[in-house]
Amino acid sequence: METVLTRPSAAPVIQALRSIGYNASTAIADLIDNSLDAKALIININFAYAESDGMITISDNGMGMNEEMLQRAMNIGSKDPRAKRGANELGRFGMGLKTASFSLGKRLSVLTKKNGAYSERCWDLDHVSECNEWQLLTVIPECVKNKIGTIEDESGTIVCIDKLDRFMGYDSKRKLKETSFYNKVARINRHLEFVFHSILEKNEVKMFINGNEVVPWDPFMRYHPNTMEGEMQMLRINDNRIKVQYFILPHAAHLTEPEYKKAGGYKGWRDHQGLYIYRENRLLYFGDWMGLFPKDAASQLARVRIDLPNEADSDWQVDIKKSGINLPEDAKRRLEAISSIARKVSRDIFYFRTQPGPRNPAIKGSLNTWEQSGSEDGPQFILNRNHPILSELLKNLDDENAKLLNLYLKFVQLGSPSNIIDSPKVPEEEVQGLPDSQKELIIQFASSLLKLNVADNEEQLLNILLTQPAFDGLNRATLKAITTEANLFDIN
Ligand SMILES: Nc1ncnc2c1ncn2[C@@H]1O[C@H](COP(=O)(O)OP(=O)(O)OP(=O)(O)O)[C@@H](O)[C@H]1O
Ligand SMILES: [Mg+2]
Repeated sequence: METVLTRPSAAPVIQALRSIGYNASTAIADLIDNSLDAKALIININFAYAESDGMITISDNGMGMNEEMLQRAMNIGSKDPRAKRGANELGRFGMGLKTASFSLGKRLSVLTKKNGAYSERCWDLDHVSECNEWQLLTVIPECVKNKIGTIEDESGTIVCIDKLDRFMGYDSKRKLKETSFYNKVARINRHLEFVFHSILEKNEVKMFINGNEVVPWDPFMRYHPNTMEGEMQMLRINDNRIKVQYFILPHAAHLTEPEYKKAGGYKGWRDHQGLYIYRENRLLYFGDWMGLFPKDAASQLARVRIDLPNEADSDWQVDIKKSGINLPEDAKRRLEAISSIARKVSRDIFYFRTQPGPRNPAIKGSLNTWEQSGSEDGPQFILNRNHPILSELLKNLDDENAKLLNLYLKFVQLGSPSNIIDSPKVPEEEVQGLPDSQKELIIQFASSLLKLNVADNEEQLLNILLTQPAFDGLNRATLKAITTEANLFDIN
């Protein structure tokens, strides 16, 4: 194949990259993503106003970079977007550090420290334009370095952006005044409270803007007793598990004035209805029904949370700015169904205030049939054993039947498609060691099958046990050893 090497011209490409559509808030959020990916626990974002030129710094105590890592990180396209990313990783394109920074200003300096050793690099777009080459400065200019200071911890990173032409207004005549500058910072603060609320609520990471802590803002008002939570649903869309749950906020009549104002967020109630799409717990998109329904006043109490893993990026067409997304065809129909329920409940409450007051204390526990277990291992979803209908049923059953029902529920839970994980394969003839609780469950289940005449010989019994999703990953030898030890055929 005959080819000719055609190198992109540095000056125009870098100018074009400045205009891929970030605003100041989405740009800062993209830079914070990097600090979170570096496992930082404290992230300080500082905005300093100066009439001639302001400066933005994002300092973190994450894992930092060595010289080689930093050199790669400063490259435009430092990683292949098709590569598999780690669990919970927010990065995807290998672009954000550069594109987000350039959308704010013309100079990006990175000072980083890993295990006590410093590295530094700097992109100065004036220099790139002048020489029309991808020349990266290996030393941060003295005037910047003096302002950013040093990194106290053994590892960490300071990203500094100055020559803030875009952040400050495009030309000298329209430069931001000091009050407008800090109003803009306040808007960014509100954006971060919102975009990172789920991450901040875990209380592991802290963020500060000019020394003030960023306080998470929960759009679903889960703390309010009149908020209604729909059941968590698991959808499988093109091999990825997507979690969906709707929330119906309380009617205004149930809210105090400050509560009402706060829940309206920074766009107002009407513009906060709709789908809230989170990627690895970080909010990516919100504010409408993404073409499924129009926005209307009566649906303004409905907010639907959708949680995506980063593996779903290409399916949902996550964009470089991490603020745009497209619904896959398969997801549309199912989200439409869930959203229309949420919208109907919202409408009923909005017009008729049919919402009950705080839940009757006689009814204890949540009304969800399934709940998230919250534990890393074991089943992800557990049946809510305190559901009022189940409690009522169990009260009216004799001991024998209550036991049987409980056993059945255990099986429903263990065999639920959402809970089945791929178990490692074990050699057929090897007896696996199991905890007593699991052995006990197998024996209970097997003896119930025998009592109900579902199986009447050992061979049949083992065949049934082997096909149970709840016992996935157990081999015949193990099941046989357990049933033999329990003498099941002697008892029955
Ligand atoms: N604060 C930081 N601490 C440690 N490493 C960082 C930091 N910021 C960036 N990096 C490194 O620089 C690389 C490039 O960052 P960049 O934001 O350009 O791309 P990305 O995060 O991989 O993907 P995306 O374009 O989706 O943000 C990251 O993959 C990471 O290895
Ligand atoms: Mg990034």
